Amino acid sequence: MSDPAIATATQQILMAVQRPEQRPVVKTFFDEKTFTASHVVHDPQTLTAAVIDSVLDYDPASGHIKYDSAQEIVDYVHAEKLQVAWQLETHAHADHLSAAPWLQEQLGGKLGIGANIVQVQEVFGKIFNADTRFARDGSQFDHLFTDGEQFKLGNLNAIALHVPGHTPADMAFIIGDAAFIGDTLFMPDYGTARADFPGGDARMLYRSIRRLLTLPAETRLFLCHDYKAPHRDTYAWETTVGAERAHNVHVHEGVSEDDFVNMRTSRDATLALPNLIMPSVQVNIRGGHMPEPEDNGTSYIKIPINKL
Ligand SMILES: [Fe+2]
Repeated sequence: MSDPAIATATQQILMAVQRPEQRPVVKTFFDEKTFTASHVVHDPQTLTAAVIDSVLDYDPASGHIKYDSAQEIVDYVHAEKLQVAWQLETHAHADHLSAAPWLQEQLGGKLGIGANIVQVQEVFGKIFNADTRFARDGSQFDHLFTDGEQFKLGNLNAIALHVPGHTPADMAFIIGDAAFIGDTLFMPDYGTARADFPGGDARMLYRSIRRLLTLPAETRLFLCHDYKAPHRDTYAWETTVGAERAHNVHVHEGVSEDDFVNMRTSRDATLALPNLIMPSVQVNIRGGHMPEPEDNGTSYIKIPINKL
């Protein structure tokens, strides 16, 4: 094993699998409008929790926002008497708005994302011609995770891994024996995340996925999205490293990097942009905050013509 971060993670997970008290409890909230799985993960011993990839309800026709989906998370956290230590984002999402700032007000927790968010802020700051009030230094977040960074969730060992490809800043958070892998792998019957957004890279995505697949086979994987594969009637968001290695339709064992890149690139060329990419990106690169209000006190979402 040449990669020290992965080696450390593997070691921790092997320990976790052997010790049931290192198995976190995971509750998932699925938003059918954006096909997003938000996860609340907690240490059963200390009740310390993290909220991962929350969703803000946004109606693009009216520009109205609501907190119904986020409220479900608040209700669950209260019912289970959890203490939220983290609001984590695996990346700056392009298909839904984050509810992290509102959840932070309700539940607390530090807002964390990958350190390369500054690259994403730079790229989209230019595309949306953001003014100087938009800082491109990640300062909208409380913590910027680096590759291999270790942290604790209560008594559980956790590690952040940089898994770029879908965006340059994607992170996977491995907590005990559970890995929250954002937009990298999807369910084995559906495949992988797209890699064609600004800053995306199919080759990098392949390498990040291969890295994740070096984790022990029994590692539980929690995904950020599901779109139901053909012939599947229900949404699913949990699988294992072993199942992905054996069955993932895009990257099962034996698929070469070049074959993956060819497949991914030609498939991405057929995909429309997500419905909510314009509002999502503008809000999520600001840590889930709306763009700075104009002189009448109102925030606006911009739509650049012929830019994306
Ligand atoms: Fe995404």
